[in-house]
Amino acid sequence: LSSTATLNDGRKIPLIGLGVYQAPTGITTQNAVTWALEAGYRHVDTAALYENEADVGIAINKSGIPREEIWITTKIWNSDQGYEKTLKAAEESLKKLQSEYIDLLILHSPLPGSQLRKESYDALQQLVRAGKVKSIGVSNYGVKHLKELLEQKPEIKPAINQVEIHPWLTRNDIATFCSQNDIVVEAYSPLAKGKKLDDPTLVKISEKYNKSSAQVLIRWGLQHGYVTLPKSVDKNRIVQNVDVFDFEIGEEDMKSLDSLDEYLTTGWDPTTCE
Ligand code: A2P
Repeated sequence: LSSTATLNDGRKIPLIGLGVYQAPTGITTQNAVTWALEAGYRHVDTAALYENEADVGIAINKSGIPREEIWITTKIWNSDQGYEKTLKAAEESLKKLQSEYIDLLILHSPLPGSQLRKESYDALQQLVRAGKVKSIGVSNYGVKHLKELLEQKPEIKPAINQVEIHPWLTRNDIATFCSQNDIVVEAYSPLAKGKKLDDPTLVKISEKYNKSSAQVLIRWGLQHGYVTLPKSVDKNRIVQNVDVFDFEIGEEDMKSLDSLDEYLTTGWDPTTCE
């Protein structure tokens, strides 16, 4: 298994990223990012909404790892959608991250509606032309939102759609549409926020491979070809969550996990909105 995925713009994204949603502002997030970089992560997924972009910036700067070796994703929050507002929000994120560029900037959700989605995506393209952003995409987009965007024939196609995905929420429709259109899927909350780690099917498979439930879930995402974004602020769990390259889930076990699907969303679900 290669440790990067290649996007439709030619850039390579590390397959596992540290998620920092609900990682508290300040030293907690800074420590999490520092431990992750020490453990070999080269990808951090933050958002303006999370209020910890500055902490991600501090930890990355302190690490001494060259900026170009680390992938930073951040997101344009709903209330910042619109052409000018998106440009302004991107500048604020750049400042907080203490960086000259953002690797991947995505629209956090389709909730603001059709007109603002279009304007905001136009702004993302402008940011790429200006060299401030390298890759662009969307998040929480359902198939209809993706179709709407592709029908506008943007000069720069979305490289990514980041959605909640795990065996209890497989989102086959979105994943299939993305794969047909050369859009990489990123899985957030790949651990279903820890709510299903005791699931008997999962536990049985974990025991078979001598791995933790979390490791099996992360590996499940990777084997589906998803960029996988486990969140943790705990040093041991951060280390554990990237120790997933020494085993492979067999086909039958993948199918058993796939069959757990019950459309379980652990937070919001904008993929079905207008
Ligand atoms: P913590 O941050 O204290 O480690 P998701 O990525 O699906 O959103 O899940 C995040 C939740 O899962 C958090 O509560 C996180 O807690 C917990 N978590 C992260 N890694 C592991 C792990 N390896 N084992 C058990 N729980 C984990």
